[in-house]
Amino acid sequence: MAPPAIEMEALTKRYGETTAVSNLTTTVPEGSVYGFLGPNGAGKTTTMRMLTTLTRPTSGAARVAGRSIQNRESVTPHIGYLPEDPPIYDELTGREQLRYVAGLRDLPAEESDERIEAMLDRFDLLADANKRIGDYSKGMRQKVGVIQAVLHRPAVAFLDEPTSGLDPRAARTMRDTIAELADQDMTIFLSTHILPVVDELADRIGVLHDGELVAEGDPETLKSRAEAGEHASLEDAFLAVTQEREEDAEPTVQPST
Ligand SMILES: Nc1ncnc2c1ncn2[C@@H]1O[C@H](COP(=O)(O)OP(=O)(O)OP(=O)(O)O)[C@@H](O)[C@H]1O
Ligand SMILES: [Mg+2]
Repeated sequence: MAPPAIEMEALTKRYGETTAVSNLTTTVPEGSVYGFLGPNGAGKTTTMRMLTTLTRPTSGAARVAGRSIQNRESVTPHIGYLPEDPPIYDELTGREQLRYVAGLRDLPAEESDERIEAMLDRFDLLADANKRIGDYSKGMRQKVGVIQAVLHRPAVAFLDEPTSGLDPRAARTMRDTIAELADQDMTIFLSTHILPVVDELADRIGVLHDGELVAEGDPETLKSRAEAGEHASLEDAFLAVTQEREEDAEPTVQPST
């Protein structure tokens, strides 16, 4: 059996008094889509930044594509990352940006040009490909960010809110693209607040709350944890598992007499 694409072992990140990610232990099988959910500030982006070697864990360990995240150079060739704010250059055109990134990844020009044109076409960006990114709309920037994250066909792609700012048609294209890449054995680690997206795509879902993994399972198992039972939506399940935590955390209020 292939080793898991991602393995986390008690992964922890503290910022001063704040524990952003606490003792995260899980694995993601190769070629699967892992939906990473959690309320604002739960620690999703921090986890992705550790897994993509952009920030060091305070403690714990992780392997991505079989390589320890402590060894940055061994991990980065095998991963792609769409951060919350994609790193793109306002001065370049969309096409130039993608060619630049392909160059950094040492892709042969002919092959990468072919992929770039196909992706620009897929995301309806061909007509704007020669326009400066500085003049792009939010959704257009997001599309460039996504394309550059998967252009080199990494073993593992980390996508932080990939449908952010996309119109319904582009969001559909994004979902289809993610499904297709997973079919081609790319492992996708996907964080989003749009629950139908993970419901449709994820093989497995993890719910983070205050840095802790509070629920994990396939979409159906997770839904069964909501009170609505078999009719529950993923939203019901999400609210149920995060609500339980809020209640646990609430200090007992003594009635004043
Ligand atoms: N560089 C930093 N310095 C200090 N605290 C940080 C830093 N980055 C994140 N945090 C804290 O870590 C916690 C988790 O933040 P994170 O950005 O990982 O959340 P998130 O789950 O991605 O939230 P969102 O859904 O809003 O994107 C928050 O309390 C945040 O304030
Ligand atoms: Mg985030």
